[in-house]
Formats: sequence, structure tokens, C-alpha cells
Amino acid sequence: MATVSRGQWSGRMGFIFAAAGSAIGLGNIWRFPYSAGENGGGAFVLIYLFFVAAIGIPVVLSELAIGRTTQRNPVGAFKALVPGSLWPWVGGLGVLTGFGILAFYAVIAGWTLSYLWGALTGVYGGVLTADESLSLFNELITDPTKAIFLSGLFLLLTILVVRGGVSKGIERVTKILMPLLLIILVILAIRSVTLPGGMDGLVYLFKPDFSKITVTVVMSALGQALFSLSLGMGAMITYGSYFPDGENLPNAGITVAIFDTAIAILAGLIIFPALFSVGVEPGAGPGLVFVVLPSIFGSLPAGNLFAIAFYALLAIAALTSTISLLEVVVSYFVDEKGWSRNKSAWVLGIFCFFLAIPSALANGASPFFSDFMGTGVDFLSLNNNLWGNYSLSLGAIALCIFVGYKWGISNALASLEASGHKLPAPALFGFLVRYVCPVAVGAVLIYVIVTGNYF
Ligand code: PHE
Repeated sequence: MATVSRGQWSGRMGFIFAAAGSAIGLGNIWRFPYSAGENGGGAFVLIYLFFVAAIGIPVVLSELAIGRTTQRNPVGAFKALVPGSLWPWVGGLGVLTGFGILAFYAVIAGWTLSYLWGALTGVYGGVLTADESLSLFNELITDPTKAIFLSGLFLLLTILVVRGGVSKGIERVTKILMPLLLIILVILAIRSVTLPGGMDGLVYLFKPDFSKITVTVVMSALGQALFSLSLGMGAMITYGSYFPDGENLPNAGITVAIFDTAIAILAGLIIFPALFSVGVEPGAGPGLVFVVLPSIFGSLPAGNLFAIAFYALLAIAALTSTISLLEVVVSYFVDEKGWSRNKSAWVLGIFCFFLAIPSALANGASPFFSDFMGTGVDFLSLNNNLWGNYSLSLGAIALCIFVGYKWGISNALASLEASGHKLPAPALFGFLVRYVCPVAVGAVLIYVIVTGNYF
């Protein structure tokens, strides 16, 4: 039985919207297109889709099963299932990863606020060339005061929602936002695909060129699948812990995974045709979406209205993700350390702001962080890769070993099916969790380490 003080989603749809709110965010609209662009397009997309199906869905279900049964934060959940063991450290890594991701995610999320402001003040009303758009972007990211202020502002918004509790606030916002976001993305995709030269973008996105596959491509696709679905750090354990009794959990989990993947592909349908149309390089890196999108708005009727709606939705989509990142950390301090929700949200959110500063300075404002310790990699990308790819992969593999060999597939299935709703293909679920996930993720990680292809 859920304790009243921890809170609960109002129903299955409430959970779906909140979990989709966590999953859908900058990962789909910012990270997916630029990772695909950096990793050769179609082949990356194909491997990403394979990882979503073979690893993402089983891991979503595993995390939700643990959350529903234990009704705890990631550390507490492992403590409850195997007291006195080292397993809670897997939850601990998840909490740490939550911090690590939030500290760079807030910086990118801050950029969306600046673009929203730009849209509100009419900057994207006229047609912008790629060069004009690029210089606007550079102006923003190299300005230390703006970059730090905007990440701080975004974290402040996150703190304000999280301190208010999980159910009402998050649910209420996401229920309206998610369908709206979908509609606007579809309109933008139609516009983008019909731009002159847009078809080349579709070919790039969907026609796999297998000669482009390297260990880095496979690693990035794996990381992207986990990152986008909010997996490998216990966000879905936490969200599953608020799942109400009597509702269909397997269906809810699979729906979220499909919804999230569809939004990523939709973002690809917007970005790639547009970038081929305006002649931006697909491998332009983290700025890709920010540089390309303004050039589509100008070519739409009422383009500025679209720009306002789009950046508002993007900022809110990012917010529903940062909420889930902070929520993991907060739920740990509330459940395990006995802190109040209010204190946890403020203390941890402010702590995260300080962690975010180096990433905010990593795009030109500070030479030290922009070329971190002479590695040629900026501090933000380093964190994105470290926490968003490696740490999540490590978390996912540990989780599958736990569910497959320690807790047991039958216990996981019993939790998923607790309300009588059956998981389709339970044997496949067991096979994927026990064999495919540990072997595939393990092989990728070992291969990366052995070959030294970290980036
Ligand atoms: N899935 C979120 C996104 O795609 C990011 C995220 C990762 C959120 C991990 C929570 C946990 O934007």
C-alpha cells in the first residue's frame, strides 16, 4: 500500500503523462538529432531503434516493477529487496547520475528559455540565414552571465515544482502539454519535409550506411536509447513507486516507450530536412537544433507564433524532465535521510546549480572548461557522455543482472502483473533481461574500454 505522504499518480493516464514527461525532453529534440548527425544518420537511427526495443523496453518494465513493489526511491528499493547487500549502491549510482545529468541538462534547458524570450520579442519573425542564426546562438552560449543565469533560472523553476510534490503539479502540466507538443511537432515536420531539398534529409535519416558503424556509433546509440527513456538511474523506479494499485502497468510502460521514440523520430523529421535545405552540416554538434530551427520558423506563415509555441513547449518538456531528475535525488533524501521535501528540493537544487556552472561556461565562455584540461572536449559534452551514456549503461546492466539473477524474473512479472493485467510475451521479457541486455550492454562497454574509443 502506498503511504499517503509519498503521493501517487491519479491513475494510469496520470502516470503515462508524467512518465512521458520525464522521457520526452531535450533528449528527443536536442540530443537525438545531434547524436544522429554526429554518428552518420541512418545507421545510428537503426541501432538506436534496436536498443529501444531490445533493451529500453525490458529495462523500463524492470524499473517500474521494482518501483511498484517497493514504493521507494532507487536506493531504498534495493535495500528493501536485498537488505544488507551491496545492491543499494546501484541505486546510489543512480542518484549520483541524476545530479550529473541535471548539472549539464539545466544549461541546455536554459538556452531554450533564451530562445523563448527571443521568440516573444520577435527575433524569429523574419527569415534568418544559417549564418545569422549561428551568430545569435554563439552570442548566447559564449556569454558567461547569460549562460549561468539561465541555468539557474531553469533550476529554480524545477525546484519550485518538485518542492510542491509529485502528483498534482507534474500531472496537471504534462496532460495538457504533451498532446500540444505532439501537434506542433507534426506541423513543423510537415513544413520541414516539404522544404526544397528536404528529401535529402529523409534519406540521411533513414537510409543506413553500414560503413559508418563504429564502436562510438553503437555506444552513442545505446546511451541515447537509455537517456531518452530516462533509464539506468532509477527515474522509472521512482515514478513506478507512485503507481496506483489496480492499474495496467505493463501497458503504461510500453506506451511511454513508444510515445518517446515517436517524438524523437518526429524531431528527426523536422531537423534533418531543414538542415539539408539550409546547408548546415549534420555533424554540427550540440548547437544543431538551436541553429537550424530558427530558419524554419521564418518560412512558415505566422512563423513567430510557431516559434513562441515551439520554444515554450520545448522549455516545458525540458522542465518535466528536469523535474524527474531532481525528483530522484529528492526522493532519496526524503525517504532515506528524513529530510523534508521542501528542504531537499532547495538544498539539492542549489547544489546542482553550482555543479552546472562549469558546463555553463564550457561553450566558449571559459577556455579551461571549453577545452577541458586540454582534452579537446568541452566540459558539457564530457558530462553528457560520462553520465548520459556510460553511467546509464552501467546502471542498466546492473539492473538487468539484479532482476534477471537476484530478484528473479518471476518476481518482476508478479509485480508488473499485480493488478491482473498481463504482460504480452513474458518469456521474451525474461530472455531480454537475462541474456540480451547484460551481454549486449556489457559487450559494448568492454569494447569501448578495450579500444579506448571513449568519445
Ligand atoms: N529522458 C530525458 C530526456 O530525454 C532525460 C532524462 C534522463 C530524464 C534520465 C531523467 C533521467 O530529455
